[in-house]
Amino acid sequence: MTDSQVKRVVSGIQPTGGLHLGNLLGAILRWVRMQDEAQCLYFLADLHSLSEHMDPDERRSSVREMAAALIASGIDPKRSIVFAQSAIPAHSELCWILNGTARMGWLNRMTQWKDKAGKNREGASVALFDYPVLQAADILLYRATHVPVGEDQKQHIELTRDIALKFNTDFDTDLFVVPEPFIGGGAAARIMSLRDGRAKMSKSDPSEMSRIHLTDSDDVIAQKIRKAKTDPEPLPEDEAALEPRPEAKNLVGIYAAITGVGIDGVLERFAGQGFGTFKPALAEAVTGLIAPIRQRLEELRRDPAELDRILADGAARAIEIGAPLLSAAKTAVGLAQ
Ligand code: TYM
Repeated sequence: MTDSQVKRVVSGIQPTGGLHLGNLLGAILRWVRMQDEAQCLYFLADLHSLSEHMDPDERRSSVREMAAALIASGIDPKRSIVFAQSAIPAHSELCWILNGTARMGWLNRMTQWKDKAGKNREGASVALFDYPVLQAADILLYRATHVPVGEDQKQHIELTRDIALKFNTDFDTDLFVVPEPFIGGGAAARIMSLRDGRAKMSKSDPSEMSRIHLTDSDDVIAQKIRKAKTDPEPLPEDEAALEPRPEAKNLVGIYAAITGVGIDGVLERFAGQGFGTFKPALAEAVTGLIAPIRQRLEELRRDPAELDRILADGAARAIEIGAPLLSAAKTAVGLAQ
């Protein structure tokens, strides 16, 4: 079997602000499941985190912390390749090569760029603008066939496809594999803020009450769910009636994603009941998911040397996989090796 036929999975997460329920349901638990199906490379996107200012010590420690969180969630570093993006210079090198292919107009259309830069485009970092090209390099370097991400990253994966196709055409090659975004079905693809059902749950939201962290205690989780924004109506019988009620829809979606019963199944059980009944049941489901992960995380944190060893091992394996592609990309564009 040639390299291009192997199903290879690549995905990353920014090592900032700790893992939250949106990351877990939207991406990480699917990363865990994909380990049985393909060779998987999962990395901490510390180079991407340079697009916004962060204290250097915090950046250093959050790479380790996020690696521990991934392993605690079920990523097995023996089967999957877990590493820090900055340990592989080829990500940056390929990004620069792809900067020759990506178009300003494409990047200007990225909603994440528009949202994060806001009205202050002139003051935003160049890295924030170029962010999706580095993401394309992350994916194309390993000839990934599938990229499991939440809904918010779909546009970046589509851009990666555009870059791969243009490069292949411009340089008359079939070097890059055009990857598929792999977005989970149902509610998990887009978990919303607990304070605003129209905004995604995000580490950049200033309100801690908007999201649930892996590190939250059972009491804190229960409190955040108790205080989650809702409406006074009981839960409806059918899904369509949730449409105009984004906060209710989000909480039902979280319950459905964790228990695997589907929105219909949740409504079958809770239709006609108010949030006074539903919220405690939801809190139980969320703590049931998070408590064991939190315990494993606490154990892993006690052994930072082991985490460093795992990351070094992952980096060595990733370098080996990426090297031939980078070399071929240099040859394709006519750069000296
Ligand atoms: P990041 O760090 O923002 O998020 C990591 C993963 O979690 C998903 N996610 C969500 N899913 C559902 N609901 C939410 N509220 C939610 N919030 C986050 C994200 O979609 C993502 O899958 N640019 C990426 C990191 C990255 C990357 C890559 C991903 C860098 N290079 C290459 C894939 C391939 C990011 O900032 O994700």
